Amino acid sequence: DVMKELLGLRHLEMSLSQQLGVKQVLVVAGDSDEDSWVKREMGRACIGELKARLRPKDVVAVMGGTTLAAVAEMMTPDTQTREVVFVPARGGLGEQVENQANTISAEFASRAKAQYRLLHVPDQLSEEAYTSLVLEPSVQDILKLIKSASTVIHGIGDAQMMAERRDSSGSFIDKLKREEAVAEAFGYYFNRAGQPIHKQRTIGLQLDDLGEHKYVISVAGGRSKAEAIAAYMKYRPSDVLITDEAAARSLLRVP
Ligand code: F6P
Repeated sequence: DVMKELLGLRHLEMSLSQQLGVKQVLVVAGDSDEDSWVKREMGRACIGELKARLRPKDVVAVMGGTTLAAVAEMMTPDTQTREVVFVPARGGLGEQVENQANTISAEFASRAKAQYRLLHVPDQLSEEAYTSLVLEPSVQDILKLIKSASTVIHGIGDAQMMAERRDSSGSFIDKLKREEAVAEAFGYYFNRAGQPIHKQRTIGLQLDDLGEHKYVISVAGGRSKAEAIAAYMKYRPSDVLITDEAAARSLLRVP
């Protein structure tokens, strides 16, 4: 697209793809830390990618966060979306209702005129509660569906910011600092080398489930997320990264 060439975004996409080892990178103009419309632009790009791949009866697992909420807002119905099933990738992770994976998956489905299933899991689960909950037949059913997802769409956050947003304890936040956590995705915290160093206990997709056969779309932008994006991509380079110009420039250290 001519506009992208003119803005130099194409060049950022190619350089980032090389630097991060991500097959496909899409960069939209702007900085989502500064302007909220940038998240919707990333959303538009994400929906384009999603629709190009979707087949009827596909299961799409989505994560929570404000970026994914903006992505869902950009969804529109299409012939191939009607039989698609949207599910939350993981259970409660301490987000406000509008930013929870459950809510966002229902929003995707309602805008796509597609199907959805909910996963009801409280945010703070003791080990005992977790162990008995996963054995519930209704939970087992939806878990099977979630694990069968062909496509996963998720956000990435800065580790400290996410711990604070989740009202984590001071001692946990200190621990993250000590262990130099920089990124958060799927309820896992990662250090700069992309090693997962802490996991929030909840039901749903675990990192190990993101095998090669799953098509993973990451959506994350804003200068403040550059380090988090780089760290997470070291763990598992996504099939598609959708980001913005500010994050891209910071990652590539170009002013
Ligand atoms: O809490 C869900 C989640 O997807 C996290 O895994 C991620 O770090 C965060 O939301 C991203 O949130 P936002 O898009 O609001 O920055």
